[in-house]
Amino acid sequence: MTGGLILAVESSCDETGIAIVEDGRRIHANVVASQVAMHAASGGIVPEVAARAHLRWIVPTLDEAWATAGVTWGDIEAVAVTEGPGLAGSLLVGINFAKTLAYVQGKPLVPVNHLEGHLYAAWLADDTRPVPEPLFPLVALIVSGGHTFLIEMRDHLQYRLLGETVDDAAGEAFDKVGRLLGLPYPGGPAIMKAAEAAVRHDVVFPRAWLGDSFDFSFSGLKTAARRTIAVETDGQGTTIGEAALSPDRVAELADGFQESVIDVLVTKTLRAARQAGAKSVVLGGGVAANRVLRDRLADGATAAGIPLVVPRPALCTDNGAMIGAAAERRMAAGVRAGLDLDARPSLPLARR
Ligand code: KG4
Ligand code: ZN
Repeated sequence: MTGGLILAVESSCDETGIAIVEDGRRIHANVVASQVAMHAASGGIVPEVAARAHLRWIVPTLDEAWATAGVTWGDIEAVAVTEGPGLAGSLLVGINFAKTLAYVQGKPLVPVNHLEGHLYAAWLADDTRPVPEPLFPLVALIVSGGHTFLIEMRDHLQYRLLGETVDDAAGEAFDKVGRLLGLPYPGGPAIMKAAEAAVRHDVVFPRAWLGDSFDFSFSGLKTAARRTIAVETDGQGTTIGEAALSPDRVAELADGFQESVIDVLVTKTLRAARQAGAKSVVLGGGVAANRVLRDRLADGATAAGIPLVVPRPALCTDNGAMIGAAAERRMAAGVRAGLDLDARPSLPLARR
C-alpha cells in the first residue's frame, strides 16, 4: 500500500490515542493508552498529571500503532490531530507531537475538532458487526464527559446546533453522582454496572424538559440525587458516604438516576429527528458506551422508522480513529494547519 492513510493523534483529555485510518472508514490501528486507572486514584482528572501522562505514553502508543498496522511512513498521506476542545496542556502534547511528525516527514497537518471526531466515529467500519453508513439529513446526539449536544447535519462538515446542555454535561452528571454513591471513577460505567443489579425500579428522579427546547439540563437532577443520598445516609442531609447505603440501595438509586438522564436524552433526540426529517440518527461520545442508552434509542429509532448508527463502545469513548475519520473529510475539503497550530481548549463545533 502506498499513500491514502491518515495517522491521527488524540490527546484532548485522559486517553492518548493514535490511529491509522484509511478512507475515513477502515481502521488499520487504533491504540489507546488510558489514564483511567491513574485518575481513579485521585477521584478525577488532574490536568497537569494528565498532560505528563500523555508525554510519557505518546511514543509507545505510536510504536504500537505502527506494529499493529504493519505500514510505514510511505503509506501515510497526512497527520491529523485534535486541536480542541479539551484540556490545554493535554492538547498541546498531541499537537506538538503531530506537528513534529508532519514536519520531519513532510506530510500535511490536518486539525480536527474533538466533537467532530465523536460524530465521525459513526462512519468507521466495524469488523465485529455490520454498521450502516449514516445518511443525510441526520440528527446526532453527542454525549461525553464535557459536552452534551444535539446536532443536525444536512451534509458533511455542516453542523447546526439544535440544543446543548445549559449546565452539566451528561457524562459529568454520571461522574458526580457516581462519586456521591461511593462508586469508583469514572461514574458512567460504574453507575451502569450498579444499575444492572437493581431489583426494584421505583426510584424516580426529576426530568428537566425545558419546554419545547432541545437544550438539556442535568444540574437539578444532580442536586435531587445529592439530597436523596444525603437524607438516606444520615437523615440530616449533611454527610454523604457510601457506608450508610446498602449495595441494593446504591443499585436502585443508580437505576433511578440513569433512567432520568436517558429518558430526556432519548425523548429529545427522537423528537428532533422527526422534526428534521432525519434519515439517520447518530449517537456518539463516551456516554454512548452506555448499554441502556444504546438499546433505548435503538428501540425508539426503529419504531420511528429511522436507522440508528452507533459505534461500538470502544469507538464511542475517546480514541484516535474517530479523529482520522473526521480528518479524511476535512482534508478533502482542503483544511490544513501550519506549524503555528495552537491548542483551542474552548473550540466550538456548531452554531444555532
Ligand atoms: O467522550 P469521552 O471518552 O471523553 C470526553 O470527551 O469527555 O467521555 C467520557 C465520559 C465520562 O463522563 C464517563 O463517565 C462517560 O463518558 N461514560 C459513560 C459510560 N462509559 C463512559 N457514561 C455512562 N455509561 C457508560 N457506560
Ligand atoms: Zn470525547
